[in-house]
Amino acid sequence: MSKGLFITFEGIDGCGKSTQLGLLKEEFVKEGVEFIEVREPGGTAVGEKIRTILLDKKNDSMTRMAELLLFEAARAQITEEVIVPSLERGVTVICDRFYDSTSAYQGYANKMGRDLTDFLNLKATNDTSPDITFLLDIDPMTAYERRSGRGEEDRIELLGLSYQEKVREGYLELAKSEGRIMVIDASAAPDVIFKEIHDKIWDLIR
Ligand code: TYD
Repeated sequence: MSKGLFITFEGIDGCGKSTQLGLLKEEFVKEGVEFIEVREPGGTAVGEKIRTILLDKKNDSMTRMAELLLFEAARAQITEEVIVPSLERGVTVICDRFYDSTSAYQGYANKMGRDLTDFLNLKATNDTSPDITFLLDIDPMTAYERRSGRGEEDRIELLGLSYQEKVREGYLELAKSEGRIMVIDASAAPDVIFKEIHDKIWDLIR
């Protein structure tokens, strides 16, 4: 049996991932593609607890190293418990964020360094790499306007626009060296964005 396709979505907060994930799921259901959707951090009982700690505004004393290791802990859990077994059964896995988030947020924006994040990403996932990654690229101001009205900001969103700008730079830097990352202009209309995503995935499925 051939392995399932591993698809990840990345981008700064408010880049429009949820809309595209929704459209992709609808299409997979229509086309009879067997898939699961998971999110990071989270997606497992252990991971959801870690997620609560990571996003809790009260944890403003969390050190950068503790934050990095918690993201990796949640990732190790979901990779071994859910992602790898699904891919091995031939099921397509759509993941809302994966280790490129750590490279961009912790490695680049928090200045923990690519060497460290690359090493931990590899260890946490046992070298399980996405087949394709869609990076929804958008300027932080537009993303912020999209997010407003969606309820209270979490600990990471509260770091503000200059932080999101750094994260964006980190993603774009990463995309230069990672051929699997497809950069998409996320300021375009949702159906235009989805066509790019759809065409790329169907190329890979065929
Ligand atoms: P979430 O509410 O899931 O954000 P979004 O809807 O934008 O995906 O919160 C996840 C937050 O955690 C988000 O701000 C990105 C951040 N994050 C990291 O900093 N490092 C990581 O490795 C991951 C997976 C997420």
